[in-house]
Amino acid sequence: MSYGLLKGKKGLIFGALNEKSIAWKVAESAVAEGAQIVLTNTPVSMRLGTIDELAKRLNTVVIPADATKVEDLENLVQKGMEHLGGKFDFVLHSIGMSPNVRKGRTYDDLDYNFLQQTLDISAISFHKVIQVCRKADAINEWGSVVALSYIAAQRTLYGYNDMADAKAMLESIARSFGYIYGREKKVRINTISQSPTQTTAGGGIMGFDNLVDFADRMSPLGNADAQDCADYVITLFSDLSRKVTMQNLFHDGGYSSMGMSFRTMKVYNEGLEYRDVKDDKTHPKA
Ligand SMILES: NC(=O)c1ccc[n+]([C@@H]2O[C@H](COP(=O)([O-])OP(=O)(O)OC[C@H]3O[C@@H](n4cnc5c(N)ncnc54)[C@H](O)[C@@H]3O)[C@@H](O)[C@H]2O)c1
Repeated sequence: MSYGLLKGKKGLIFGALNEKSIAWKVAESAVAEGAQIVLTNTPVSMRLGTIDELAKRLNTVVIPADATKVEDLENLVQKGMEHLGGKFDFVLHSIGMSPNVRKGRTYDDLDYNFLQQTLDISAISFHKVIQVCRKADAINEWGSVVALSYIAAQRTLYGYNDMADAKAMLESIARSFGYIYGREKKVRINTISQSPTQTTAGGGIMGFDNLVDFADRMSPLGNADAQDCADYVITLFSDLSRKVTMQNLFHDGGYSSMGMSFRTMKVYNEGLEYRDVKDDKTHPKA
């Protein structure tokens, strides 16, 4: 159902790889709510994924950019505004990747070059996107910028690795830049801390299916899926949330306020398989 919440608004959306991507659902929902958008991703992801298909269906373009490269972002912002015929009202940063996770390097054996890349891609790119937009005066007053985070920024979760550090930094950038951009142009900047979600990036996390099951059992409302997330992002892009800024907003079915739930306890009561992972050589320690 559409409410026309973004009627007349223009937006820039990073991170649609394929139809599972959170950014894909946001792009579809933004257009359904009346927005005009421009899509972007890295040239490699454009080749590996199906973003062109999405652009065709939504009657828009994909402008390639590596979000870690300032010159790519400058080109993207200029071309994006040209295509839309004006400044952006909203920007979605839906980007994350850890070479340490990909290569199976545990948190107590990180490759530091990989760590730099994790931080650059998953957190510092958020700063770069905002800084480039601000210098080009590319976001209208009362515009809205959203990035996607995860509760591992505040709580330790087995296997989330250096992405936890990246998410902590991402949330900090939302606060630090939210102050500056809010003070000057009323631009609001927030992060949404989303449930584990079945996407390409999500699936790369160690033991992801178990994490999804655990979070679902712990959450009174169950996990929020990618479409639920898109719905929430739309409210933050809309004029109905104009005074919300510098926040990390949990969108997780209640997970972040739980300690133990009946459905999780049941797993133990029923005596389902329990192993001490210390003795299991297939489980890395970190
Ligand atoms: N899936 C989950 O469980 C989950 C939970 C909470 C938060 N998130 C966050 O949601 C966001 C989107 O991830 P997703 O789950 O939709 O997975 P996804 O794999 O569909 O999206 C990740 C995107 O990041 C893009 N990307 C990687 N490096 C880039 C770069 N240098 N420049 C520009 N783009 C780059 C990829 O091309 C891809 O489109 C990420 O920030 C992720 O950490 C995901």
